[in-house]
Amino acid sequence: MNIGRIGRTEDDDIREALQEFPYGIYIIGTTRDGRPNAMIADWVMQVSFEPRLIAVGFERDSSSLARIRENGAFTVNLLNREGNGMALARGFVQPADASKVRGRSNQAAAQQHDKLAGVAHRLSERAPGCPILDDALAYAECAAEQFVDAGDHVLVLGRVLYAEVLNSGEPLTSTFTGWSYGG
Ligand SMILES: Cc1cc2nc3c(=O)[nH]c(=O)nc-3n(C[C@H](O)[C@H](O)[C@H](O)COP(=O)(O)O)c2cc1C
Repeated sequence: MNIGRIGRTEDDDIREALQEFPYGIYIIGTTRDGRPNAMIADWVMQVSFEPRLIAVGFERDSSSLARIRENGAFTVNLLNREGNGMALARGFVQPADASKVRGRSNQAAAQQHDKLAGVAHRLSERAPGCPILDDALAYAECAAEQFVDAGDHVLVLGRVLYAEVLNSGEPLTSTFTGWSYGG
């Protein structure tokens, strides 16, 4: 308990505790008008065996969420700790709000570029047009089934149409990167 430490609030305690929760590092692939797009995300988990459903938590104003609402499909790429996984993750870090992600430098947060430029990928057929990264440890192709409001985020429940291990290695995690989206 941190009560009594000068200047600390309960909210500081809660944020610090939640930031210890570990997550995998995923790239969510979407598409619009024939142009694939991708965003980095932590908040991904399987939530049903039968049918197999994966939930992803999106910020309400996320453009990826808007694309999924339009197209009804997305891919989930789990990054690999081996090889170029960390470099790939850095390339997908986005400008929006540096303060949201602990451990991310302002320089990294200020990068603006075509996130898929130079990233080896193919486009899914089952999740039409959504990118599958060649260097992912594993990926899943999903059909969006439900959109559930969850506070300042929206949970998208996607039915897994197909998934495959692509490469050997270990998952890249928030514990390894030191970045935390939670709190
Ligand atoms: C390590 C990390 C994890 C993130 N996890 C999530 C997440 O789970 N859900 C989310 O909506 N945004 C997450 N973000 C923020 C989005 O990647 C960022 O807001 C991005 O600009 C959204 O892109 P879009 O507008 O193309 O969808 C995360 C960012 C970082 C750096």
